Amino acid sequence: MLPILGAVASAVTLATAFPALDVRQLPAPITANSSVSCLSLRNGCNATVIDPNNAWNYTDCALLAICSEGVSTPQQTLNSVNLPTTQPRLTEDVFNQMTGGADRLTQQNYVDAYNAAIASTPAFIRTYVLQGQYETIAAWTGDCDDSGIPYSNFADWFDYSGTAGVCPAVQSCNATLAASADPCVPQPITDNGSCNGVAGQCALFIQQDVDGLFQNSLCLMASMCYAESTTDVLINKMFPSYVSNIPTTADQTRLSLDLFHNVTGGNNVMTLQNAIDAYYGALTNTYDSLGGPWGAQDPQRSGNNGPYPTSTDYVSNFWSIISAWTGLCDTQEIPYDNLADYLSYAASSGYHPTC
Ligand SMILES: *[C@@H]1O[C@H](CO)[C@@H](O)[C@H](O)[C@H]1NC(C)=O
Ligand SMILES: *[C@@H]1O[C@H](CO)[C@@H](O)[C@H](O)[C@H]1NC(C)=O
Ligand SMILES: *[C@@H]1O[C@H](CO)[C@@H](O)[C@H](O)[C@H]1NC(C)=O
Ligand SMILES: *[C@@H]1O[C@H](CO)[C@@H](O)[C@H](O)[C@H]1NC(C)=O
Ligand SMILES: *[C@@H]1O[C@H](CO)[C@@H](O)[C@H](O)[C@H]1NC(C)=O
Ligand SMILES: *[C@@H]1O[C@H](CO)[C@@H](O)[C@H](O)[C@H]1NC(C)=O
Repeated sequence: MLPILGAVASAVTLATAFPALDVRQLPAPITANSSVSCLSLRNGCNATVIDPNNAWNYTDCALLAICSEGVSTPQQTLNSVNLPTTQPRLTEDVFNQMTGGADRLTQQNYVDAYNAAIASTPAFIRTYVLQGQYETIAAWTGDCDDSGIPYSNFADWFDYSGTAGVCPAVQSCNATLAASADPCVPQPITDNGSCNGVAGQCALFIQQDVDGLFQNSLCLMASMCYAESTTDVLINKMFPSYVSNIPTTADQTRLSLDLFHNVTGGNNVMTLQNAIDAYYGALTNTYDSLGGPWGAQDPQRSGNNGPYPTSTDYVSNFWSIISAWTGLCDTQEIPYDNLADYLSYAASSGYHPTC
């Protein structure tokens, strides 16, 4: 099940593959009112009242996707209201309705369009929350110069902002918000959401395992697929912001030797093929949670697989970063001590080489 905004209202009882994200990635700051107003847009973006095969021709659907950003991609938002995730491009009708006919959408246009859309419900939203949402999209489209977002860039956001591997130059046009945003992880396109899938499973275990990231194969694989970023960023994504004393990589117990041997089949080096097998294994018969608050989620085998990377090149890419960090580009066969050092120290080393 994909994270959906409805999770916000009952975050502690929600069962998803990635429970922490629902809370953490809400456009800051989180207010109950902003999620209520956002959710109210579902009424106008419902297959019973719209053409389900042209969702981006409805202002409520467009606004719902925007106010859910950070929590869900536009496609995940469509899925959360049971609409097809493949849709024609956002129509000029919707854009013109939001801009009042002007050829660029400004922050004020967005605030006005949103408030008009929720006017008939008792919902309420703080203007600065809406301004923050606009600044995120304007950053994605590269329109931070205050002149507004042109139609084609705005329509692109609906089609492409959910694509893995695309990080904007800045995450918000507002420098304060950009500085406080979780860093975007520049995954290769071959990721296909697999790393998020592994990290979501790791989150179910790490909340119960005081020894941390490097003691079970799901969390080991999540740590490896974060090679384009750092495990500190991974930890921050997994832990809800309300948890006090969120740990860092430096707090994690060194890699378990037993785990290392499980992945290598008892050999004293880990190879690319070992990593491929373990990574695909982590995406097979995946774990899900039946719910429960953070710290008490009960991971269960789901019987589901994936999402797998679109190619094993994805694993080769992160393995090459790890091999380069450990100085083993020639063989790409990594002994226990080198791999354990990489896991414990790469996050703080600031060193990000590739073979
Ligand atoms: C989009 O909706 C408008 C009504 O708001 C309608 O006139 C138009 O035909 C629709 N466009 C498409 C492509 O369905
Ligand atoms: C759409 O509206 C119908 C009728 O009000 C309702 O039963 C259904 O749950 C709604 N669908 C979603 C996804 O909210
Ligand atoms: C929530 O909205 C209500 C009006 O609907 C308002 O009275 C209240 O102050 C809002 N609360 C917050 C925290 O914004
Ligand atoms: C940036 O966002 C912060 C936090 O919402 C807000 O206080 C500030 O006014 C914004 N700055 C600008 C220039 O909009
Ligand atoms: C290694 O594999 C064995 C057998 O599958 C399992 O019981 C053990 O928990 C694994 N150890 C680690 C650290 O994953
Ligand atoms: C990529 O992920 C989607 C689900 O998100 C899945 O349907 C597809 O099969 C995956 N691609 C591959 C090559 O596994």
